[in-house]
Amino acid sequence: MSGPVTSALATTRGNIASRLISKHDLSYEGRGNRRGICSSHAHITMSKVRCIGISTGGGDAPGLNAVIRAAVKCAILKYKWKVIGIPDGFDGLIWPEKSRELTLEHVSSILPRGGTILGTTNRGNPFEYRVTENGKEVTRDIADEVIANSRKLGIDAIIAIGGDGSQKIAWELFQRGLKLVGVPKTIDNDLSATEVTFGFDTALATATDAVDKIHTTAEAHHRVMVVEVMGRDAGWIALSAGMAGGAHVVLLPEIPFTIQNICDYIAQRERDGKHFTIVVVAEGIKLPPELKENRRQNSPVGNLIGQAISTQSGKEVRISVLGHIQRGGSPTPFDRILATRFGVAAVELIANGDFGKMVCLRNSHIESVCISEAIGHLKTVEPRGELANAARSIGICFGDLAGYGG
Ligand code: F6P
Repeated sequence: MSGPVTSALATTRGNIASRLISKHDLSYEGRGNRRGICSSHAHITMSKVRCIGISTGGGDAPGLNAVIRAAVKCAILKYKWKVIGIPDGFDGLIWPEKSRELTLEHVSSILPRGGTILGTTNRGNPFEYRVTENGKEVTRDIADEVIANSRKLGIDAIIAIGGDGSQKIAWELFQRGLKLVGVPKTIDNDLSATEVTFGFDTALATATDAVDKIHTTAEAHHRVMVVEVMGRDAGWIALSAGMAGGAHVVLLPEIPFTIQNICDYIAQRERDGKHFTIVVVAEGIKLPPELKENRRQNSPVGNLIGQAISTQSGKEVRISVLGHIQRGGSPTPFDRILATRFGVAAVELIANGDFGKMVCLRNSHIESVCISEAIGHLKTVEPRGELANAARSIGICFGDLAGYGG
């Protein structure tokens, strides 16, 4: 390992802290950060901000470029700030020379593009940075180096766009003294502080389109078709795509199920003259014990479910694992607009000195919440909530109850 990281690792944390936190730095918000609170209406005024940085961390989601574009445009056109694009999440601040200025030119025509022009990583954590020392992999806390580098770049505040993991890192960096605001992102829609995250609508449209397409071939061949979708530990994509695509069985991480219940349901459909069944499976489902034993590491759960249904029902089964297709493509108009509103709101938080906060959507309005309140509590599907109950009412089977419509 070489470069700035090495010097930071050679320095004790205390030394770095005293180097970085001078008396001058201990303004209202500096002291507030140390106590772990958000700095509402802190003493940094609009006129003091000259330059902001933008980073995108964690798995990409359609709409990231729309946030970047909106933040750059608002920062330059409304506030005349300079904007620096930090590559690959907070990793980009380990090598500050890789950061570059973002001008209006750079964000021209990126609105409809998936991915992120800044690049991202879901492994970059400056508090547990992996380095190899004496042939052994160890983790080091290089957060102070990262903060010092952002200051070297002249960055007054950072917009950290990311999901739960990235917001946790952002909160810790804020507590160490980095002025930043958060923008929530994930196709999983599992952040509790916001009604919805951008990326979800696009992923849902992709998953629904897949279920629609699977429908016609399932019906033609009288088959059971299993479609595995993403969502980590939350079933929002599965339930929503299942409902939007007219699936018959939906398996969620939030609802325990049995293969027997699913097969009974399929048998009942057969008796009713419906010789095909669409099963949408969330990647994060909790497998019944008999299937857990057979699971090879990282093998898609959809395969196990499909094989088990085939063995038990005697029906021909085909399996599609949608995977990263759900993270790609052009964001939907809904995601572009939400992302744009979030980007602008993040700039306004900085202009107001509201650091340590994350923008969010509540009752269709853009608001903000302390990042500490936004992290750690995942929003999952309520098994007896309105959405799941609506699905039950139209006969969708969650595999939890015996009988048709269960
Ligand atoms: O959190 C978004 C997500 O796409 C999840 O739905 C999925 O489990 C995970 O990221 C995949 O991550 P990776 O890109 O590391 O395979």
